[in-house]
Formats: sequence, structure tokens, C-alpha cells
Amino acid sequence: MRNNIVAGNWKMNNDATQTRVLINDLNKALEEVSINCRVLISPTSINLTSAVALTQDSVIEVSAQNMHQAKSGAFTGEISAEMLKDVGVKTVILGHSERRTYFGEDDKILTEKVASALENNLEVIFCFGESLEDRKSENHFNVVESQLKNVVLSLSASSWKHIVLAYEPVWAIGTGETASPEQAQEMHAFIRSLLVDTYGSSVAEHVSILYGGSVKPTNAREIFSKEDVDGGLIGGASLKASDFTGIISAF
Ligand code: PGA
Repeated sequence: MRNNIVAGNWKMNNDATQTRVLINDLNKALEEVSINCRVLISPTSINLTSAVALTQDSVIEVSAQNMHQAKSGAFTGEISAEMLKDVGVKTVILGHSERRTYFGEDDKILTEKVASALENNLEVIFCFGESLEDRKSENHFNVVESQLKNVVLSLSASSWKHIVLAYEPVWAIGTGETASPEQAQEMHAFIRSLLVDTYGSSVAEHVSILYGGSVKPTNAREIFSKEDVDGGLIGGASLKASDFTGIISAF
């Protein structure tokens, strides 16, 4: 069966000291709770090396927030899949709405990024989700379907062992407004039906589909209890050890 996953996306937060303190706090807090899911954190790229070292004996896995699609070359300021792998990172978040909105990452770029990550044996957490306007005009299923079709639904069936999906309605990211558990389930079931149609149910049943957007310790349990919700991608609440641990304990 598929894995339950709680993944923290730290975004552009936490300097080197804060990274060390938060990881140490998490390591300690997680020793005291029973953990029934994979746990990932995604510090900024400059702190990935230390994060990998600090989680060596921990259940916590480290993922990157982004990477460039090229192998190497004249791409000032960028980091390749190979470089992530080299420092011990095994997972990368791709397609986050902030990358799409502020850095112009479109389906073509994301297709290249996903391909490069998979070629380098990195696991991909692929993010997508509709805007408020799309939801209001009841276009959300079409938008999500095209975001998936244009990037990941043309991959081989075997690639799906290394892909996690993260449905993040843009209107719920960092806004305090969460999709209701029913809205999340409705969309996750739709996403899984697209996987069934494309690859058959044995592949579809093994893909973890995370929900992201203002998940907190107070709402995680209800959202995660839904059949097709296999965990969460957590922004704000992943920056405090007690909140993040509370969400992990929801499983
Ligand atoms: P949030 O962010 O939990 O702060 O809403 C989620 C995300 O951007 O992944």
C-alpha cells in the first residue's frame, strides 16, 4: 500500500543556526511520539548539507525545495539534481505554486525538471492546484487535470514509484483558509481516478497524494482521515517543532 507522508516545506525561512535548532528540537520531539508516516523536511538549499548530517540517525528525511533542470553549466544561482544527490538529498519538491507564480515555472520547465530529477534517482513531490478564480468558476477539476496531464501523466508507469503528488489549492496556501476535508477528498479521488485511467489501479493505489494549504495540528487529523488523502505538505506549521510534531501525530 501507499505511504502516509508528512512533508515540511520551510520555504525561505531559517538560517543555519535556526535550521540546526529546529532539527534538534524535531529529533527530540519525534523520539517521544509514535510515528506512522514518513517525515520529510525541506530546508533552504544552503542548509541542506547540515540538515542531512543532523538527521543521519533520525526518521527525518531531507528534501530540496527546487532544482534546475540542466545537468550543469552557465545557470547562475542554480542547483542541479546531481548536486542535490551529492549532498545526500533524496527527494525534491517541484512545481510549488510559489515557483510557478514568482519564478515563471510552466509545464514545459516542470516536465524537464521532473525528468532530470527522475534520471538522477531523486524522488519528486509534484505540486499543483487551482487558483481561487478557478475554484469560483468551477474550473478546478479541469485545471488540475491539465496540470497533471501536461507534466506527469505521460511518464512511464514505473516512474510512479518515485513520485508523490501534492494537491495544494493556491487559495489555501499560507492564507489560514483550508480546503474542507470533503473538498480535499473530492479532488484527491479525482486525481486517483486520472491515475487509474492512465495506468490502472495497481499503480494508482500505490501513489501517495498529499494535501497542502494551511494544515495545522488542529485540522490535520480530519483531513488525513479521508480515504485518498495520504498526508500533507506543510508550510507555516512546519516551522515550529510542536506544530509539526502535532501534525505527524495525526496519523
Ligand atoms: P502553508 O503552505 O501550510 O503555510 O499553507 C503550504 C505549502 O505552501 O506547501
